Amino acid sequence: ALKMMAEYRFPNEWMKGDMVLEPGVTPETLKKIESFELKEGDILIATYPKTGTTWMQELVWLICNNGDIKQARSMPIFERVPFFEYKLDGVKSGLDVLQERPRPYMIKTHFRSEIYQSQIEAGKVKIIVGIRNPKDTLVSLYHFYRMNNNLGNFKGTWDDFFELYKTKHIVFGDYFKWYSYWLQYKDKPNVKLIKYEDMHHRMSDVIDDVCQFLGKTLSRDAIPDIIQHLTFNDMSKNPMVNFNALDLLDKDISPFMRKGKIGDWKNYFSEEQSSVVDKHYREVIEPLGVKLEFE
Ligand code: A3P
Repeated sequence: ALKMMAEYRFPNEWMKGDMVLEPGVTPETLKKIESFELKEGDILIATYPKTGTTWMQELVWLICNNGDIKQARSMPIFERVPFFEYKLDGVKSGLDVLQERPRPYMIKTHFRSEIYQSQIEAGKVKIIVGIRNPKDTLVSLYHFYRMNNNLGNFKGTWDDFFELYKTKHIVFGDYFKWYSYWLQYKDKPNVKLIKYEDMHHRMSDVIDDVCQFLGKTLSRDAIPDIIQHLTFNDMSKNPMVNFNALDLLDKDISPFMRKGKIGDWKNYFSEEQSSVVDKHYREVIEPLGVKLEFE
């Protein structure tokens, strides 16, 4: 197990303070983003990995494009809502792609808020922070580590992955620490917190909520088709959002659109592991005066 941990320790160049960056976030891109000015009208989707980012990207893109499902089906999500800090060899970073386009920008980021502090305080950019049950997030992340070549195709068991989680040396850092940064801003008028679980149970309310937050409207008649388009069933078959074609991700190990369920953690966590996460919640989130309930 120790050897395994060493193998999944990323080298120092992939660190930003105590935050582990995904290989693909180069120091150059990081530097550019730190000094990049977000403007009025730009929308940032800030999530911890595996909390339903892609789902939120698709939703926000549709809201900003009059619910145009046909157009949504003509271009991959990572081109429509680029991953700001991410750059693959020989390909432009999300930031570089955006800079060739007219504003406003729709952006995905997995960075903690510290990188955007002055932008958040300037209040121009609207930010949607997505959150999901930490236990389901960790199970999803475990499978993502297995299928992602960039993350070394994790070979260990769930228990091994949980040990790795306990070292806090995982991409974009510890879940709780990540949210302790973003949750400081949750009551700012330009920041909106959306739960993955609410997208499951109350998608139509979430759509209304996001429309209102972004100052957009969708025709009532378009909403049923949008909700259908956003179901796990439809999205997992949709090549523009399911990442099946990306070489980097091995869908035969685990598909990107894996299960899309609430509560899969119960199939993985031991009681002890569950209490470790509960303890982290009590230690990190409760002192912020935030109450998050998860199923
Ligand atoms: P699972 O691995 O639990 O299935 P991200 O986009 O942040 O990487 O998150 C991926 C997770 O969101 C995966 O979780 C994926 O299945 C889930 N997801 C993506 N689209 C979804 C949808 N339309 N409905 C429900 N879950 C969805």
